[in-house]
Amino acid sequence: MNAVITGIAGYVPDKVLTNKDLEKLVDTNDEWIKSRTGIETRHILEKGKGTSFMGGKAVEELLSKTNTKAEEIDLIICATVTPDHVFPSTANIIGDLVGAKNAWSFDINAACSGFLYALATGSQFIESGKYKKVIIVGADKMSSIVDYTDRTTCVIFGDGAGAVMLEPTEDKTIGIKDSILYSDGAGKKHLYQKSGGSVSPASEETVKNREHFVYQEGQPVFKAAVTAMADVSAEIMEKNNLKAEDVSWLVPHQANLRIIDATARRMGLSTEKVMINIQKYGNTTAGTLPLCLADWETQLKKGDNIILSTFGGGFTWGAMYLTWGYSS
Ligand code: UT7
Repeated sequence: MNAVITGIAGYVPDKVLTNKDLEKLVDTNDEWIKSRTGIETRHILEKGKGTSFMGGKAVEELLSKTNTKAEEIDLIICATVTPDHVFPSTANIIGDLVGAKNAWSFDINAACSGFLYALATGSQFIESGKYKKVIIVGADKMSSIVDYTDRTTCVIFGDGAGAVMLEPTEDKTIGIKDSILYSDGAGKKHLYQKSGGSVSPASEETVKNREHFVYQEGQPVFKAAVTAMADVSAEIMEKNNLKAEDVSWLVPHQANLRIIDATARRMGLSTEKVMINIQKYGNTTAGTLPLCLADWETQLKKGDNIILSTFGGGFTWGAMYLTWGYSS
């Protein structure tokens, strides 16, 4: 059996935060943000609502688009670094929200590579013949862990979610064909949240020191991302004997337009084949890949060869090769 994506849905909150808005919060400007990152706007979820709200919206739409009853779902995996709570998992909460009474569920934390890790994990349950319907969610409320006094991070991130349905197919020409995944814990020091975990639980001190926000050293992360994302994308093409002309679409993690451009160049792809929506949403962490697929769904055709590629905190990175299974 191959695991094939049979539906996709995305959700972003209504509220938009523009570069001009950020100019009022920190010492930054529209020109710097656009030229260094490619971002123009990002969407922000209101206070009091969590990641499960956005993931739940995406899954509700997915169920409706695929004519699926919630009770038919076997498994929900949610990739996120901004869970509603430390426990229970956000996937559990989403399952309850949508009425997936027969599903079990768990979260995956692989930062910006979370959706790809979750897709690779979920596909195993389909390929083994164990399950018929698995939902993979990528969702993050980054505004809940972004310090809006830190100009080096607050301009980058946004909130959003996406979800896909995975089902089995006997048609070996479509579906997930290969994935290459990596992680390197030595990258932790460059990109992490200092407190709020078991090493440094929340205290007056940690709050005062602003340690519950994203900490990022931009330059080392940028250098690692440019190399790793381009390398792994080239590696999966080579491994599967794919030339640039065989690839219909690159779906890259949306962290920085310059990282996306470097990856596409390395793969020999022209810009028209690259899904880019970073200008609208910024970096939604686990949300970027499914939000791209959702935005491009109407342009996707059965038989399109797609490479998904990511890099994120951990460090974590990887690429997946799949052939799209339906035309809208
Ligand atoms: O998705 C997870 C993985 N994350 C990534 O892939 C992010 C990787 N890193 C990046 O995308 C980039 O490093 C950033 C977008 C975070 C920063 O861009 P950069 O081109 O690496 O800038 P920089 O850190 O080298 O800073 C250049 C200058 C500095 O000023 P000086 O020291 O040259 O005077 C910064 O202080 O830009 C300054 N700067 C800003 N200026 C205006 C930093 N942030 C801002 C800002 N507005 N928001």
